[in-house]
Amino acid sequence: MKSHSTRLDRFISANTDINRRDVRLALAKKRITVDGEVATGISQCIGQFSKVSLDGVALKTSSPLYLIMNKPKGVVSATKDEKNKTVLDVLAEQIKFDPQAIFQPNENGKEYLRTEDLDGLHIVGRLDFNSSGLLLLTNDGRWSRRVSLPERRIEKRYRVTVDKPLTQVYVNDFYQGMYFAYENITTRPVRLNILSDYVAEVDLVEGRYHQIKRMFGRFQNTVLELHRQSVGELVMESALLPGHSRFLTNSEVLSL
Ligand code: URA
Repeated sequence: MKSHSTRLDRFISANTDINRRDVRLALAKKRITVDGEVATGISQCIGQFSKVSLDGVALKTSSPLYLIMNKPKGVVSATKDEKNKTVLDVLAEQIKFDPQAIFQPNENGKEYLRTEDLDGLHIVGRLDFNSSGLLLLTNDGRWSRRVSLPERRIEKRYRVTVDKPLTQVYVNDFYQGMYFAYENITTRPVRLNILSDYVAEVDLVEGRYHQIKRMFGRFQNTVLELHRQSVGELVMESALLPGHSRFLTNSEVLSL
């Protein structure tokens, strides 16, 4: 994830015909505002989403983007991959098929996700290649770091289908925690709710590498299907079809 802040003089010279030496003069004439306040210092820090204006005309900055995707199986949770289709390729396909498919309200009516926005996006909490379900994408590094903070223990719910029948022993062992020698950690208590012989809901508050598959692996039980249904309060609606994405609402963003 890149750092997106820059000095005001650098930002002005990159986005206007004022060179860095003349920025002081523009400041003295009160020509520049940052987030509505008259700017005073050339070394003022301009954040990724700061609103900068010169003579009352807004200069190009990006706006924060928060998306939820129903990740299909057979797609890598990565922004680039040499061999396989990535989740960004999936987003690009949806926009190509319908350029107005992914939109959110803004002060001018509607803002559409554009192909050129995809470059700035990163993934918040990966899903394995053959896992499906709720995946978050954003260009806001502060938000994604907050969502991923281990101490916040945000619960993620998965629906899992396995190869062999489930028993109460699984429920106890998952809750007790399992020692993972490679990381030298014991997993935090995991709630397992058996829905039928082969299907269970699994609630994780951390995201160790292949955690669910490895936990069922202790019983030599193979995970056949793994689908993420929710992250914290955010539950993915069934109307969001595999491969489709939408913007999160403001309250969904704040809920995480
Ligand atoms: N645990 C796994 O094993 N795979 C996932 O995709 C998510 C959690």
